[in-house]
Amino acid sequence: MDRQIVVELKNVTKTINHKKIVENLNFQIHSGEIFGFLGPNGAGKTTTIRMMVGLTRISEGDIFINGFSIKSDFNKAISNVGAIVENPDLYKYMTGYQNLKHFARMVQGVGKKEIIETAELLGIGNWIKNPVRTYSLGMRQRLGLAQALLHHPSLVILDEPTNGLDPEGIHELRNTLKYLAHEKGVAILVSSHLLSEMQLMCDKVGVIQHGKLITVQNIEDFMRAGKCVSSIMVDPSQIDMAYHIILQMGKNIISKDMSGKLLAEIEQKDIPEVNHKLMESGIRVYEVQTQQETLEERFLEVMEENK
Ligand SMILES: Nc1ncnc2c1ncn2[C@@H]1O[C@H](COP(=O)(O)OP(=O)(O)OP(=O)(O)O)[C@@H](O)[C@H]1O
Ligand SMILES: [Mg+2]
Repeated sequence: MDRQIVVELKNVTKTINHKKIVENLNFQIHSGEIFGFLGPNGAGKTTTIRMMVGLTRISEGDIFINGFSIKSDFNKAISNVGAIVENPDLYKYMTGYQNLKHFARMVQGVGKKEIIETAELLGIGNWIKNPVRTYSLGMRQRLGLAQALLHHPSLVILDEPTNGLDPEGIHELRNTLKYLAHEKGVAILVSSHLLSEMQLMCDKVGVIQHGKLITVQNIEDFMRAGKCVSSIMVDPSQIDMAYHIILQMGKNIISKDMSGKLLAEIEQKDIPEVNHKLMESGIRVYEVQTQQETLEERFLEVMEENK
């Protein structure tokens, strides 16, 4: 699959009342890529997304979607975008199907077939005959997503799409987004605080703090830069000896306890050497486990570094 740039932010700034809410953002999302937009509350994610879909004016810079400028060529730029920003706009007194049909009237080339297919894709095929006021929060989220996907957009933007979804719904959403990106070549921007979910879903992450982009990286590179923590179980009577040996090897020790468990920053590649040194000194090693930091741990670390 060729990797075209679907969306590009160039020096994007948003100023409200002389305050820079979003400052000089630059990043791109390619076709077939799921981009996780991460940042603490108030960082500027929704504001950025609102600028991407024309819900709020761009103060400086510009955003290009499939090469079309949001500022000067809005209709063309937005024609290939499907988005849910905050809560999806739905008419509660109409059925799911009527909602989708209503939306389909505003875009070209979407008929009954596309409506049914999209509803099936999102697992609401059985519900669309019922009025939306009878839907649960998760069902509404799914219907909102169906609405965003109806016209086969090349860019899908989802602000907090997991809100209100049950574990099964979250799992299905992940699979649907992966299918759209990896099989259909759609570019997807997702913002969410559910970092364990983002870790499973995203190909790339962009981290924003106080309106500024801190990093944009492939998720593998972002994770690889994290600490690797090893847990070593030794005979409890030998824990202090083990502690000193590992310390002497220049490793950072996180904790040790009387059960014989020691946590230290040791990469997997160094485990054989550590193990060898311990055994040489007659220490009985029962178990060694190595774990890379999670996305949540990495995120908190990056936030701390940039405070
Ligand atoms: N219309 C507005 N007028 C004044 N300030 C605003 C306006 N809209 C947003 N802000 C401020 O801009 C900052 C960024 O808000 P934004 O909603 O983009 O954050 P966010 O990253 O989406 O946060 P969250 O994770 O809580 O959704 C906040 O400090 C917010 O108070
Ligand atoms: Mg937000």
